[in-house]
This record gives sequence, C-alpha cells and structure tokens, in this order.
Amino acid sequence: MEIERVQTVASLSFDKETIPDEFIRPEKEQPAKTAFHGQVPEVPAIDLSDPDQENVLRLIAEASREWGIFQVVNHGIPSDLIAKLQDVGRKFFELSQEEKELIARPPDSKSIEGYGSKLQNTPQAKKSWVDHLFHRIWPPPSINYKFWPTNPPSYRFLSLSLVSSPYFTREVNEEYAKYLREVADKLFTALSLGLGLEGHALKEGAGGEGIEFMLKINYYPPCPRPDLTLGVVAHTDLSALTILVPNEVPGLQIFKDENWIEAKYIPNALIIHIGDQIEILSNGKYKAVLHRTTVAKDKARMSWPVFLEPPGISRWISRLGNPVGEIHLKVSSIKESRSDDKRFSIFTGTKTLHLRAGS
Ligand code: SIN
Ligand code: FE2
Repeated sequence: MEIERVQTVASLSFDKETIPDEFIRPEKEQPAKTAFHGQVPEVPAIDLSDPDQENVLRLIAEASREWGIFQVVNHGIPSDLIAKLQDVGRKFFELSQEEKELIARPPDSKSIEGYGSKLQNTPQAKKSWVDHLFHRIWPPPSINYKFWPTNPPSYRFLSLSLVSSPYFTREVNEEYAKYLREVADKLFTALSLGLGLEGHALKEGAGGEGIEFMLKINYYPPCPRPDLTLGVVAHTDLSALTILVPNEVPGLQIFKDENWIEAKYIPNALIIHIGDQIEILSNGKYKAVLHRTTVAKDKARMSWPVFLEPPGISRWISRLGNPVGEIHLKVSSIKESRSDDKRFSIFTGTKTLHLRAGS
C-alpha cells in the first residue's frame, strides 16, 4: 500500500481553510489552545568560545539540569558548511515525490533509515504534519549509503564550483559529522565534569567511539491551519544528546514550568537537547527535555537533528519486548506518563551500572 506523504497532503490543501481530520490534534495538544501568554523565559544560549571556560562548563551543566536544552554559538562549525547542509537537504525535499520515494524506508525494514512519514500506532491515532529522512552519518561502518540522496549530487559531493572551499572533496554530510564529533566531545566532557565525574565518563557510558550519529531531516510543509496540528508531538529524545540546526522558521517548543515556550531562532546556533540516555546516566540530574514542534502557514519549516545514540540502539528498538544479550531494558515511569509512543528507555547496562553520578 502506498503511504501518503504529508507534503502531498499539503500541496492538495494549500488553498483550503482546513486540513484533513486525521491531522487535527486533540484540543489539549493544539498550539492555539496551549500557547504561552505572559513574559517568556528564554532557552539559555551559551557562547562556547568564551575565554572563561570554567564559566562555559557551569552554564552547560546548569542549563542541562534546569532546562534539558540550550543553544550554543561560536561552536566551531563553519557557517557556510551549515548553509550547505541545509541547502542540499532542502533540495532533496523539493524533488518530485517519485524521486524521493527512491530512497523510502522499505515497509518491512527493521531500521528507521530512509525517507518516510511517521506511521500511526493505532487507526485512531492522529497524524502529524511532517515528513522526514533518516540516515546515519557516523561511524563509517554504521553508514548505509543506500539511504543517502544521490540528488542533488552535492548532497554527497560538493560541486566543482566550490573547489576553493576547504571541504570540496568531501561529502557535505560527512564533513558535518566530523565537526559535530568535536562539539559532541566538548559537550560530553562538560556534562561529565558537571556531575563531578571524570571528563570521559558520560561519553563512555553512552558508547564511546561507537556512538552512532543518526541524522534526521524534518520537513514540515506549509499548513493552512497551523493552529490545529503539530509537526512533531510532545516527546523526549531517546538519544544521549541531540544536536540540531533549524531553518529560520520558528516552531520548536519546550515544556517548562507547565508552559510551552518557543525556542528563539539564533542564526548558526546549534540547539542541544539532553536525551533519555543522559538523563539515565546522570541518575536524573540532567533532564531529558520534553519538546514538540508547531508548523507555519506560508513557509516550510525544516530542521536537522543529529541523534547521538548508543551503538545499535535503533536496532534494539525494533526488538523491544524481546531483548537479547547484554541489553537491559528499563521501564521509565517518568517517560511513561509523558509520551504516547515511547514507554521504554534503553541503556547498555554493563557500563551504566558503574556510573553513579552522586546520590
Ligand atoms: C524533533 O524533536 O524531532 C524535531 C525538533 C525540531 O524540528 O526542531
Ligand atoms: Fe525530538
């Protein structure tokens, strides 16, 4: 059976006053009914190049305890590389449906990789206004190029007109992964020190050099009724950390002090989410952030989260209920009450059990 993509639904509804029923979220989720009024506290923004690195460490730890999310600027990833990453991703989503379907996730696949739309868990469940592409970008043995677009060609190989660029021979996404690894190392170190652990502790706990970098590109088409629907519904990320760049269309909202607060768009900033694995590894000292996204009326919103995941985590997910080997499943009561579709958190028990981040 062919899956209807949200981009197709959007193109059929662009001049309409409403959207198909299956996209209308229950009232308690609708952005128009749950918007925050009043003075808006802001997601912390941290300058990683601040000469006072002690202060940077303190701010990262503080934001991770209180918010579970923060933005970083002056992080070392060149702005033209970020622009290129966004450009090739946007060009992929602007291809014809037929062309995008060439790298669709096969329906019987055990992996989440490929182009797709979120499937409903039950026939009554509502849909959300987003399509996506998933593929790993690091480490090399985990990469399946089958799910990397070949169009635009520069998704993988920058065009010759850019030979003056320092990364002309590399794939945009590979180059991005290289820089991201440096940012990730910095963050893992800061978070470990912030718990009074040795700098390498949390990275090791999450899988060390085996940590997998899963890129997701979210494409939220323009929507005639952004007041009634959501892009991604409220959830915490299953990752250890998520490092995200958005486009300029706002829409990421964070649940804090019983309110939904919008993250401000800061050009070239990276948005860092604390995911479930760091919450678990830190014994709850750092909080996995509950977040969701809204969509826009006249513009496509896009985002590029990279999930830093313990090796094999997305393969274990497909085996939920039948864990094997060293994998430990932990039923998390916190997650159970706040997310519809993610009742389990997973961690590599052997390493995690050695880590006691205070009491
Ligand atoms: C997500 O949580 O998966 C998406 C976040 C975003 O689009 O900003
Ligand atoms: Fe997320």
